[in-house]
Amino acid sequence: MPDKLIVILGATGLQGGSVARLYATLPGWRIRGITRNPTKASCSPLREAGVELVAADLDDVESLEKAFEGANAIFAVTDFWQFIQLPSTNQAAAEQGREPNQVAMDLEIQQGKNIIHAAVKHLGTLDRFVVSTLSDSEKWSGGKIKWNLHFDGKAKYTQYLKDNFPELAKKSSYLQMGFYLSNEHTMPVLTPQKQENGTFVLMGSAGTHLTPYVDPPNDTGYFVKALMEAKEANVTMLGYCELISNEEYAAIWSKVMGVKTRTVAKGMEDLKAAGLPDFLVREVGESLAYASTWGWDGGDPEVKHPKDVGVEMDKLTKVAEWIRKEDWSSVL
Ligand SMILES: NC(=O)c1ccc[n+]([C@@H]2O[C@H](COP(=O)([O-])OP(=O)(O)OC[C@H]3O[C@@H](n4cnc5c(N)ncnc54)[C@H](OP(=O)(O)O)[C@@H]3O)[C@@H](O)[C@H]2O)c1
Ligand SMILES: *[C@@H]1O[C@H](CO)[C@@H](O)[C@H](O)[C@H]1NC(C)=O
Ligand SMILES: *[C@@H]1O[C@H](CO)[C@@H](O)[C@H](O)[C@H]1NC(C)=O
Ligand SMILES: *[C@@H]1O[C@H](CO)[C@@H](O)[C@H](O)[C@H]1NC(C)=O
Repeated sequence: MPDKLIVILGATGLQGGSVARLYATLPGWRIRGITRNPTKASCSPLREAGVELVAADLDDVESLEKAFEGANAIFAVTDFWQFIQLPSTNQAAAEQGREPNQVAMDLEIQQGKNIIHAAVKHLGTLDRFVVSTLSDSEKWSGGKIKWNLHFDGKAKYTQYLKDNFPELAKKSSYLQMGFYLSNEHTMPVLTPQKQENGTFVLMGSAGTHLTPYVDPPNDTGYFVKALMEAKEANVTMLGYCELISNEEYAAIWSKVMGVKTRTVAKGMEDLKAAGLPDFLVREVGESLAYASTWGWDGGDPEVKHPKDVGVEMDKLTKVAEWIRKEDWSSVL
């Protein structure tokens, strides 16, 4: 039997890179990784691992159609946050009298639709389409959460697939990626803070819901493999390595680092004090409020856990081990 072909969007990124590296170790697969620029240096390790790198752009549906040629499996991911950085996003927002995150959501939804429109052209070869997505926070919060747009844009294009392309939907499964462990490094307001007496303050939770911690470079591949290999499609799974409270996380951090910690729930005031512009205070603040009050998956009863979908749980990141391996010198 000839090898099957998996096409991986975002192959140079955290999630897609994990999928590409894992599939490169599996027999029976050819791996095609998509990037806007296959000549950049960060592509070399992937190429050395046996990944074919092909240029395509999520803004260009024809390039995606071409990139998906012959695909038996496709992994899709879009990146909301890059749009926030672009001057053009902020300019468009100013011209339209809207917020930059609203413009970013529109751009992300359009990219999601482009991926879907390209994938439906390949139903002949395609066996499974796995979409990295997030829950619809406006829906599950009963309209209370309105500005968690990096969740809701993904939920909207996922719903667009389900509503408009039943033949593709029959072959699709959905991965709701959890809370990146690395957010502690990339978001200063979530970073452990050293107090004068040598104890540390870590992020706590204002609500009762557990946090689905995940290490995307390590774990995403195992989630996607399980969703690809599951007998049935149409599965929605929450992607995490450990589902624990922020307080449990702080206790693990405390033990590994050998220091005393306490937790404080972070809210809009902390985000504002950290210097975020108002629209990001709302975006990040509402996402924290949503996750702690309604849960990362909004309490959607359809959402399955990794162990119930056949994920190789022993291969996933251990939070304690992740903390031990990280460089905390800037915090200590
Ligand atoms: N932080 C969290 O806790 C969290 C949790 C769940 C979900 N998420 C979501 O994760 C997503 C980001 O995924 P990630 O962490 O894997 O991203 P990442 O590491 O920043 O990588 C982004 C990838 O997207 C590709 N890409 C971006 N724009 C593209 C375009 N126009 N055409 C083709 N490829 C494009 C990039 O490829 P090239 O640059 O090589 O072209 C790169 O491979 C975000 O949407 C975020 O909302 C985050
Ligand atoms: C997917 O599952 C949902 C919920 O069980 C169901 O309503 C929907 O019809 C299914 N879709 C497909 C394409 O099988
Ligand atoms: C350290 O200081 C913080 C306030 O800055 C206080 O809440 C905490 O109780 C102190 N801990 C110890 C062990 O002294
Ligand atoms: C993934 O995490 C496990 C557990 O922490 C660790 O043993 C393994 O080395 C990690 N793998 C990669 C590729 O980082």
